[in-house]
Amino acid sequence: MIVYLNGQFVAKDEARISPDDRGFLFADGVYEVIRSYDGRLFRTREHLERLVRSLRETGIEASVAGKVPVIAEDLIRRNKLEQGGALVYVQITRGAAPRKHAFPDAGTPCTIYAAASSFAAPEEEQKDGVRIILVPDIRWARCDIKTVALVPNVLASQRAKENAAREAVFVRDGVVTEGTHTNFCAVFDGTLVTHPKTNHILAGITRDAVLELCGELGIPVLEAPVFEADLTRAQEILLVGTTVEVTPVVEVDSWQVGDGVPGPITRKLQRAFLEMVTG
Ligand code: PDD
Repeated sequence: MIVYLNGQFVAKDEARISPDDRGFLFADGVYEVIRSYDGRLFRTREHLERLVRSLRETGIEASVAGKVPVIAEDLIRRNKLEQGGALVYVQITRGAAPRKHAFPDAGTPCTIYAAASSFAAPEEEQKDGVRIILVPDIRWARCDIKTVALVPNVLASQRAKENAAREAVFVRDGVVTEGTHTNFCAVFDGTLVTHPKTNHILAGITRDAVLELCGELGIPVLEAPVFEADLTRAQEILLVGTTVEVTPVVEVDSWQVGDGVPGPITRKLQRAFLEMVTG
């Protein structure tokens, strides 16, 4: 596998990062995950904008981000991933410097790493639906920044795995925020409700695409808090994200969502999303 590291394309085995890298020492970095469909990257501009925002919000040099679309396309080509699905992972950290909490000296170059690998959508899960668990949202108050500091997400995701669930979904002060790597939507009386874009969720690229599709399909949307206490009344629940696309949720903890099968709005959105990414 060929990866990109600090200006060079190298074999992954040969890629070397300093133990002083602040990504390693402090999780002082941000990332993006971009989906490719038959060699076409999905919503590159939006991913780039979000990356630049994450860099600005963390005070990491943002000018390097401009190269990301070209690097991503190059990685798809060099790794012969033009056919089928792939994921491009991009991470930018504040660079390597002796361990001190405050920013390193001006001019310390950031570390930029990118890799592409083949990826297939979880078709069975999209067809049959998945089970999720609800967990307390113990994350910080800047979940809008796509930082690599993901320990709470890692712990929650592991808890889901140990409980035979596909995803753990966070609940903060009684409000359902998002999953460990997905955004969360619920359908109440025909309206798709999802957490507003605040500091408590990541503004998902897929979430935006799905809300656009709702507009086109005439599905009413409400960007408002979904209360955990109301969740059992939801007719449908769905997860949206780069890796899950549109995935129905049929079970939450130990109760069944609606009839226990993926609902009509989820199905419509799945079809429309597939058309959007393949069209
Ligand atoms: N995660 N919320 C969180 C916390 C996420 O980490 C992600 C994506 C999303 C969905 O965003 P998008 O539609 O832009 O993928 C929501 C990536 C895929 C990851 O960490 O692997």
